[in-house]
Amino acid sequence: MATLAARSIPGPKVFPLLGWRSNLVKAFYTPFFYLPWLHKTYGNIATLAAGNLTYVVVFGPENNFKVLSNPDCFEVTKGTILERMPADSAFSRMMLRNVAMERGKEHRRLRRLMQPAFHRKMLTCYHHNMVEMTQYVLERWETQNEFELNQEMKRITLRIIIKALFGLYDERELERISTTIFQLNKAVPLALILPVNLPGTPYHQTLRLGEELEQFFLKLIEQKRSQTEATDVLAALIHAHDEDGSFLSEDELLSNTASLFLAGFETTMTSLTWVLFLLHQHPHILSDLLDELEGILQGNAPTPEQIAQMPLLDGVIKESLRLLPPGSVGARVTMTDCELEGYEIPAGTNILYSQFVTHRMPELYPEPNRFKPERWLTLKRTPYEYLPFGAGQHMCIGAGFAIYEMKIILSVLLQRYRLQFVPGTQVEPKVRMQPKYRLQVKAVPQDRRFERVPVRGRILELVDISDHEM
Ligand code: HEM
Repeated sequence: MATLAARSIPGPKVFPLLGWRSNLVKAFYTPFFYLPWLHKTYGNIATLAAGNLTYVVVFGPENNFKVLSNPDCFEVTKGTILERMPADSAFSRMMLRNVAMERGKEHRRLRRLMQPAFHRKMLTCYHHNMVEMTQYVLERWETQNEFELNQEMKRITLRIIIKALFGLYDERELERISTTIFQLNKAVPLALILPVNLPGTPYHQTLRLGEELEQFFLKLIEQKRSQTEATDVLAALIHAHDEDGSFLSEDELLSNTASLFLAGFETTMTSLTWVLFLLHQHPHILSDLLDELEGILQGNAPTPEQIAQMPLLDGVIKESLRLLPPGSVGARVTMTDCELEGYEIPAGTNILYSQFVTHRMPELYPEPNRFKPERWLTLKRTPYEYLPFGAGQHMCIGAGFAIYEMKIILSVLLQRYRLQFVPGTQVEPKVRMQPKYRLQVKAVPQDRRFERVPVRGRILELVDISDHEM
């Protein structure tokens, strides 16, 4: 087939000074507003700036399949931030040698070594801690008048991931390290824009916070080496070895420990926040879900067997991850000249694809903006049509862990409390689907007095919370 010249891929006109950069910021910070517009305006392929090939964006299941299942053509990108950080910095050491960043043979080797720690069988080992940590945080709600929902989800998921990954945690150390991570998340995008290593700059801060985190992980690894009977993920990684007897190197151990930790809690925390938000905007669904939970669990936490027996809970989580996926946009880079939508794309081009846009295609999901968990009772979709955890070689290693954890937290929480949102709360997602504004809620003992509290903000452009429920 004759391919078209890539230069003719359509895209928005931009101011020459900023070029594609301003649109890249939009694509990553507010993908849910910018990418649907790009798709609607230009179709299944577009550049971020007319005539410029630095970033090409593709849409739809066929393109997701091409980009995610053919590593000879499309591979994970190391990211601009890593290119700009000194190779011998703690930040680079933590970010570079892990399963999310490695390609080809190295990636397959790391997956092989790490997979057993995330095997379905292993989830039951983490089960008790997940229940205990959830109950520990929920206990505090008895005496708290009002709180910010996302922060409380952080409290639960952070404790669960630390326990599951490292088998230990110290409450004060935990607060300190979560602050470091949040500061780092803030500093990194700014460091990209201003890569200047002077005291006080975000770049300098990124390097310093990276050192702090590295010390934290190195200490954990050292402590873990001295424990012989541990059953956590880190212990499994330390003892994992290949058929030829080779173990993970020190650098790989550090980098993978860091990446699992960083990948593991923010995504789950945000997902839980949106599930709870969506449920409280749809009182009938919440009521049906509570019927299911109480019918099976009778007020108790679920057993590992019961986790798989709650179809509505399953649908609620799936539907929430469809509508508001924390990973709304993903990136790859072309390893060689490749074809997409009839255009020849040169090697070295950055390719973006979007879970968010795919999940809203009406031909795949009728009434795409509505929260309809029951659709999952009959609906089957391929991994490239429904991909909140990505697809292909780099699909999320913790997907099973995250779903299992969310099911435990939701079933314990909802049987115990009813959440009341403050009327008129402004709701909008920002980068990585984090809520932009505080989601202030009150927890009262579960009394089934479900009622939709009206909210305002751009969430109403993303979810159709109209009168279907009234
Ligand atoms: C709801 C929660 C989660 C969501 C939405 C999520 C989403 C994703 C997505 C979209 C990817 C693919 C990235 C790509 O293809 O470039 C990914 C990869 C990954 N996730 Fe998750 N994730 C979640 C929870 C977790 C948890 C709990 C862990 C570990 C404890 C984890 C560890 C990882 C790792 C290590 C990778 C890289 C895998 C590879 O490159 O082979 N994630 N995740």
